[in-house]
Amino acid sequence: MPCWCSSFFVVLAAFGYKAWQNTSAGCIGCHSDRKKLEKLGYPGLYVTQEIVEKQSHHQNVTCRDCHLGNGRATDMKPAMRGLPPDGAKRT
Ligand code: HEC
Ligand code: HEC
Repeated sequence: MPCWCSSFFVVLAAFGYKAWQNTSAGCIGCHSDRKKLEKLGYPGLYVTQEIVEKQSHHQNVTCRDCHLGNGRATDMKPAMRGLPPDGAKRT
């Protein structure tokens, strides 16, 4: 019998990784933390989930839905690698 099971697990792992990547917790952890932003020198970039939902009129929208980037990273350089040049993707 051909062994299809290993490729099945590869697919599973890929889905799991995608789901794991699909978070904006890191963005919020920094952009919703006034003290941290002040220390970094950008107090004006304070953004929270509530502000975004109110302004965009979309509930449960995540930072990465528009801005891409790495929502798992807690340092700003790796977090915002991959952001479009003007900050958000336009669809
Ligand atoms: C550790 C803190 C930190 C994290 C984590 C972080 N940011 Fe930022 N972000 C900053 C700071 C500081 C700036 C301003 C400096 C800069 O643009 O490099 C900024 C700037 C931005 C800007 C404006 C960029 C521009 O060119 O005007 C956007 C949009 C943004 N961040 C989105 C995100 C998103 C989306 C994530 C998660 C994927 C994220 N940030 C994660 C600290 C952070
Ligand atoms: C519905 C799409 C959308 C979502 C969701 C979204 N943003 Fe934005 N964001 C934008 C756009 C578009 C801009 C650029 C606005 C402009 O150029 O005036 C922007 C601008 C920014 C800026 C720069 C603000 C400035 O004053 O220069 C930061 C920082 C930022 N967003 C962070 C976030 C964070 C953090 C989240 C998640 C909590 C988030 N955004 C969710 C579309 C979005």
